[in-house]
Amino acid sequence: MSSGLSGRLFLLGVFALVLAGCEQREKSTTSNTGEKPKQSDSAPARAAAVTFLALEVPVKPQVTPEFVARGKQLYDQNCAVCHGAKGDGKGDAAAFLLPKPRDFVTANYRLRSTLNTQLPTDEDLFRSISLGMPGTPMPPWRHILNDSDRWALVEFVKTFSPKFKEPEKPEVVDLGKPPGNSKEAIAEGKTLFTAMGCVACHGEGGRGDGPNAAALVNDMEQKIVPRDFAKPGQFKSGYARKEIVRAMLTGFNGTPMLGYANILSNDQPWKVAQFIETLVQPERSIVDQPSKNFNVREDLGDADVKIKVIERAWQYDPNIIRVKKGQIIEVTFEPTDNGLGVGHGFAVSGYDEVAFLNGAMVGVPKKTKFRADRAGEFTFYCSTQCSTDKLHPMMNGTLIVEDSGEKKTASLK
Ligand code: HEC
Ligand code: HEC
Repeated sequence: MSSGLSGRLFLLGVFALVLAGCEQREKSTTSNTGEKPKQSDSAPARAAAVTFLALEVPVKPQVTPEFVARGKQLYDQNCAVCHGAKGDGKGDAAAFLLPKPRDFVTANYRLRSTLNTQLPTDEDLFRSISLGMPGTPMPPWRHILNDSDRWALVEFVKTFSPKFKEPEKPEVVDLGKPPGNSKEAIAEGKTLFTAMGCVACHGEGGRGDGPNAAALVNDMEQKIVPRDFAKPGQFKSGYARKEIVRAMLTGFNGTPMLGYANILSNDQPWKVAQFIETLVQPERSIVDQPSKNFNVREDLGDADVKIKVIERAWQYDPNIIRVKKGQIIEVTFEPTDNGLGVGHGFAVSGYDEVAFLNGAMVGVPKKTKFRADRAGEFTFYCSTQCSTDKLHPMMNGTLIVEDSGEKKTASLK
């Protein structure tokens, strides 16, 4: 994975956390599990969004043909760009995304409360649509669509797969009984983690680097990396002990992460989860950090020109920037929407190696600073790969670097 791409995905996770963080303020700030994370405060605190099982699921409205038709309409507007009009995961944006959007026809759902290989419950689908999948391009829709709309989407998404036509009821896994926090429980969890073979993929230190990790692929033959337990922001159902237990027991269908529901019982999965929690490491704060230039050759010092650029309706404003050769330029960029959930970027063709930022979001502006050492006209564009004909054809502008020696020539526009 290129560093630019992983940066984008990481930012999406943060986007989800930021949004969830806002919502949380209205409610309460208690932890979902009722148990306080014992590790260093910062990392788990930042990941403390509403998690999969903690989301309150409202009663499903009556399913009528009109209700499903409403689901289709919402799907075409909001989901087809990634998941495809036929639900096969092949939308226009899919080529730019990692991991790839779910294929609703094969219906291998990752986030479930049900046994390995089984379908999710309707509530499970409502949860994943509402909360999205942190660390991936799948957005949390509860901030944009109301409960009824999200239920309509659940019903419509199911129509893509013949699997949902057979009424066999999925079996919800029993999460067993949590033991109290203790050193002994953690030690037992560590022993189980090795004995159960988790280390083969997740690695002894849980960094996702076990001996089998490099060879793993998912149901789309895409390389897949076992979760790095040091990074709570990458847990796809949110970070809480209960979610770790659930993920361990249900597995992620369509990935090499199988469910251990028939192998681990009672308090065993909870002990493993307690051990996994000890592996968390504090994350750096990344909000409003300047993007790193690919090559930092010199400390540019204070900028001569500071320019604020925004994105509105998928166009840059301003879309013409005029500077003088030799000036140090600082561009601060903030979009007014989050694009496909990964934000927008700013790069200058011809200055690619020095003027570049990515993953700017609403409320999370980004900066790039560079020396305009070449005169001429240069195109700037969205480095989050959205300045394409299919996505945002208007997302570009012109940087004019005037050569001060020729300031008074008639040809100057
Ligand atoms: C920006 C692209 C994008 C958009 C837009 C998007 N999704 Fe997704 N979605 C994804 C990706 C990528 C995944 C898979 C993530 C993974 O495998 O970790 C996903 C996964 C899912 C899943 C699977 C959850 C699971 O347990 O496996 C569901 C359900 C889903 N999306 C529903 C929707 C619905 C409904 C909409 C529209 C309201 C939507 N998505 C819009 C990218 C998107
Ligand atoms: C064959 C390799 C493999 C083995 C063995 C394995 N895992 Fe995983 N695990 C994965 C992969 C791959 C993922 C990432 C799936 C994804 O991102 O869609 C994962 C994800 C997870 C997650 C993340 C849940 C989330 O919300 O994101 C947890 C927790 C986890 N594994 C725990 C375990 C435990 C505990 C064991 C042993 C009992 C184990 N795994 C064994 C490959 C494995």
